[in-house]
Amino acid sequence: MIVNSSIFLLFLSLFISSATANTQISISPKTLNRSGDSVVIKWSGIDTPSNLDWLGIYSPPNSPHNHFIGYKFLNASSTWQSGSGSISLPLTNLRSNYTFRIFRWTRSEIDSKHLDHDQNPLPGTKHLLAESDQVTFGSGTPEQIHLAFEDGVDRMRVMFVAGDGEERFVRYGERKERLGDSVLARGVRYEREDMCDAPANTTLGWRDPGWVFDAVMENLNGGVRYYYQVGSDSKGWSEIHSFIARDVSSEETIAFMFGDMGCATPYTTFIRTQDESITTVKWILRDIEALGDKPALVSHIGDISYARGYSWVWDEFFSQIEPIASRVPYHVCIGNHEYDFPTQPWKPDWAAWTYGNDGGGECGVPYSMRFNMPGNSSEPTGMKAPPTRNLYYSYDVGSVHFVYISTETNFLTGGRQYEFIKRDLESVNREETPFVVVQGHRPMYTTSNEVRDAMIRQKMVENLEPLFVENNVTLALWGHVHRYERFCPIRNNTCGKQWRGSPVHLVIGMAGQDWQPIWQPRPNHPGLPIFPQPEQSMYRTGEFGYTRLVANKEKLTVSFVGNHDGEVHDTVEMLASGEVISGSKDDTVKTVPASATLVGKPESNVSWYVKGAGLMVLGVLLGFIIGFFTQGKKVSSSDNRWIPVKNEET
Ligand SMILES: [Fe+2]
Repeated sequence: MIVNSSIFLLFLSLFISSATANTQISISPKTLNRSGDSVVIKWSGIDTPSNLDWLGIYSPPNSPHNHFIGYKFLNASSTWQSGSGSISLPLTNLRSNYTFRIFRWTRSEIDSKHLDHDQNPLPGTKHLLAESDQVTFGSGTPEQIHLAFEDGVDRMRVMFVAGDGEERFVRYGERKERLGDSVLARGVRYEREDMCDAPANTTLGWRDPGWVFDAVMENLNGGVRYYYQVGSDSKGWSEIHSFIARDVSSEETIAFMFGDMGCATPYTTFIRTQDESITTVKWILRDIEALGDKPALVSHIGDISYARGYSWVWDEFFSQIEPIASRVPYHVCIGNHEYDFPTQPWKPDWAAWTYGNDGGGECGVPYSMRFNMPGNSSEPTGMKAPPTRNLYYSYDVGSVHFVYISTETNFLTGGRQYEFIKRDLESVNREETPFVVVQGHRPMYTTSNEVRDAMIRQKMVENLEPLFVENNVTLALWGHVHRYERFCPIRNNTCGKQWRGSPVHLVIGMAGQDWQPIWQPRPNHPGLPIFPQPEQSMYRTGEFGYTRLVANKEKLTVSFVGNHDGEVHDTVEMLASGEVISGSKDDTVKTVPASATLVGKPESNVSWYVKGAGLMVLGVLLGFIIGFFTQGKKVSSSDNRWIPVKNEET
């Protein structure tokens, strides 16, 4: 036995040292202009290539081996078995240089306790084969540009990120060739010590977030297109972007609304990322471009980047949304993944297990510093961290009064937020804005009846629903559940006839995150893949996508657009008279689209740890999938209230 072990170790050391001796790595180019530019990493000379050889991506370059921001296996290159290959990677500007390291990892070194968020083992760093030169971003040009409405109707806020705190400006005007107005941007930053828990406050999760700049363009003429750029003469200017100024009296209101989108990364990292978000952004960008000179806005109602304490994921997120957020105001409300932390000040006994550490120790700091929404709501974190802001606010656009609320902080009767919502809803001028849309993260209604949020739902019904009912809220939008689901006009879990007194509720958390809870199980068969769809639920689907809202003084229409084909699959119209018209396209029988995978990450070389369990649940998941796509639309016949899934025994 000892002899066998010795032979194995000798073989292992030869295997590793032969690979180490000859490995070469090179990169091109060594300077990139801006986020999204690609670097090509080439290697050669790897003896006895293994499918566990991997490429670590590091920023800053002096990061310890196990503090990569992400990795790729070398077998991503088609020629890897020859010992040579190349990988092209689009990089996001993290305001520090990048470097790349190639490691050899062996099966005997797999550590089943050192796992990523998907329970795959993280690659080992014992055997460095080669390290590249550094890649740098050449300019100090700001990036991650995003717009938002401000409290003044003739204003537009613009925020962006730069690597230093030197003065930056926004210059803007109605003509692209003459940006005659200029305003100084205020730069702020946050520190690792501001984070409340791990991994956000550890060297693993923390990276310098740069300086966040904030400026407000003023005296804008409603409905007019403005051109703008951000930066400075000494550090460089961004490219010129444009937007349509807010027009409170516009005939038409257009919004793109969703929750739980996250972002994609071109590498595997410590947490699950959301590949489907690429398609959501793609279709929304298509829609915005098709609008021409009509103004629009975006609402992302919580669970925004899913950075969960890994700082650079925020950079990836803002780079990904910049094409839409630099054109239309990008509005947000807070979700559990922005905030949830163990010592959060508001954690009532009845929901102690509901509020945990979903924020990865961020305690709302990146959310509060990187966005600046209207209003002045704020709550102390109870720690060194700066107060949490962007909690509750509202604004009018055209015929719609939009309200954003926080399900992460106190929403109970008598609290500050409750009083705000009450005052706000009571003061809406229904002549000007006949429609009122309230948005929050955790749903008041869903048929994904997870026990964890049951008390939240109950408390929302008890405390908030009476305000919505009394003040004739038209529509309530929620995220958190990664599904699209539309309810009847509803009050106290009972369908009404009109939205007046019974707001229509939609769950719209289907924009990217792929962890999808099951629908409501039957009480007597909780583990079986059968999904009763109560009569209150008019339409529900497992497809990814987003919603479009279009309103004028007479009618507000919301449509669900599926990511798999970019087309509308469900529509509901709410008339100013109170009538609700349901107009779903009948697509009850569907095949599973390629974009609707349950697990969006590319398969890892080392996912065998989860494959066994995966196979066991595959049959159940198949049942779930079939269930989702065979009962999207609620069939009104009461005989069909309990719809069996085909191939239940699968
Ligand atoms: Fe959530």
